[in-house]
Amino acid sequence: PAGLNQPLTLALSKGRIFDETLPLLEEAGIKVLESPETSRKLILPTNNPDLRLIIVRATDVPTYVQYGAAHIGIAGKDVLYEHMEQHPGGLYQPVDLNIARCRLCVAVAEGFDYHSAVKQGSRLRIATKYTRAAREHFASKGVYVDLIKLYGSMELAPLVGLADAIVDLVSSGGTLRANKLVEVEDITPISSRLIVNQAAMKNRGAQLQPLIDAFSRASLDE
Ligand code: PRP
Repeated sequence: PAGLNQPLTLALSKGRIFDETLPLLEEAGIKVLESPETSRKLILPTNNPDLRLIIVRATDVPTYVQYGAAHIGIAGKDVLYEHMEQHPGGLYQPVDLNIARCRLCVAVAEGFDYHSAVKQGSRLRIATKYTRAAREHFASKGVYVDLIKLYGSMELAPLVGLADAIVDLVSSGGTLRANKLVEVEDITPISSRLIVNQAAMKNRGAQLQPLIDAFSRASLDE
């Protein structure tokens, strides 16, 4: 685990979460000196020698924070919900940052009559990265499903006969439209949260709390 003499380490993923975190950091007076888009470095220093960023896959952010390799992290509710199924403790979630907003949905190929299939009690094949959220959603509706775990490009599954439907994130809807899929059910709104290692909160709370407060203030301004 990151030692007491190490700078505070914030884990996050590149792309939308990184881009939308930058302005929150700037409000706290923190500037990131390199971008993961132009640099291949995975450890990014900031203008504050006591804070560094590490760039990891979105699904790995809770793992780094859980094990204390990062003291703090930024992760989507989608990713957190799946992570917590296997690892229910060890993380505080003090702030909903309200960034990287999208929604978790059920989508099918145009022309597939999802609502009739559900009414008839058909067993549906669902492809998704979000197996916990999908399982619980269909269980709550009393729909029988076979879940097929995928790691990306879910939109392809109904087009090539791998699945009847997908459970995936939708933001602009552009990916669904480009692949002739339609949204048939909204599951839940998604945004990113701050997550904090519980032991770090005890040992380095004096350093962490001002950062958490700054994120909290900045996210309220969003
Ligand atoms: C997400 C999601 C969709 C897309 C939706 O993928 O899985 O594919 O964004 O966005 P849209 O509605 O604006 O088109 P992301 O780019 O996060 O990559 P991922 O496949 O690694 O999850």
